[in-house]
Amino acid sequence: MLCAHVITLFSEVFESFLAHPLLVKATDNKAISIALHNLRDFAHDNHRSVDDMPFGGGPGMVLMPGPLFEAVESITKDHDVDRVILMTPQGELLNQRTVLSLSKLPGFVVICGRYEGVDERVREHLVTDELSIGDYVLAGGELPAMVLLESIVRLLPGVVGCAESTFDESHSFAMLEYPQYTRPSKFRAWKVPKVLLSGDHQRIERWRARQSLLRTLTKRPDLVAGWQNVRESQEIYERLSKALNND
Ligand code: ADE
Repeated sequence: MLCAHVITLFSEVFESFLAHPLLVKATDNKAISIALHNLRDFAHDNHRSVDDMPFGGGPGMVLMPGPLFEAVESITKDHDVDRVILMTPQGELLNQRTVLSLSKLPGFVVICGRYEGVDERVREHLVTDELSIGDYVLAGGELPAMVLLESIVRLLPGVVGCAESTFDESHSFAMLEYPQYTRPSKFRAWKVPKVLLSGDHQRIERWRARQSLLRTLTKRPDLVAGWQNVRESQEIYERLSKALNND
């Protein structure tokens, strides 16, 4: 079972997230345990302060190293923790490859940053990974931590109904998904592509492969630059050859 530990000042914002059926199923099935740790429990003064003004001046407050180090150390002394992840806009951009690798670990800590940032010594001597969910700045790391956790939970065995759907995604994250349709086959003036109603699985597969390719090239050409990894390129080669086969 994967053990995720979240250090936050706002544990209440995780309540409805953890009550979501996907998360309930994952925790009930013992695919993951998510423990919330209140950073204020590791403060040293009567005001339970965890932040202070930046040396050298400037706006905002900075999370102090003491409570963060002690929070992490209180977790690592009893639990198997491989990574200490800081959610920050300065981090490496989160992608499905990182999600997949984190989903295979026995445990990790996620620190939700707040205010103007964290004392640099936390980055240098405590944190092993810094992750960002996009090039924009949120008020804190709580939403990013939930994004990270949900993306991981979906990949854990027994969590998502159809194992194939996450398998397909996790192995094809360098290619965008083909378009999907459901009933009715005609909605207003818009018909579902005929091939999908044909029952011819080989033709459908080829059509989907072509659509994936077309979408990736038009919507996310930047992903094409990542097609260097051998495993990915093999998968892509197979998809391409399917796509380019005549109907
Ligand atoms: N904290 C604030 N903004 C963030 C972002 N974009 N990603 C991760 N953590 C953050």
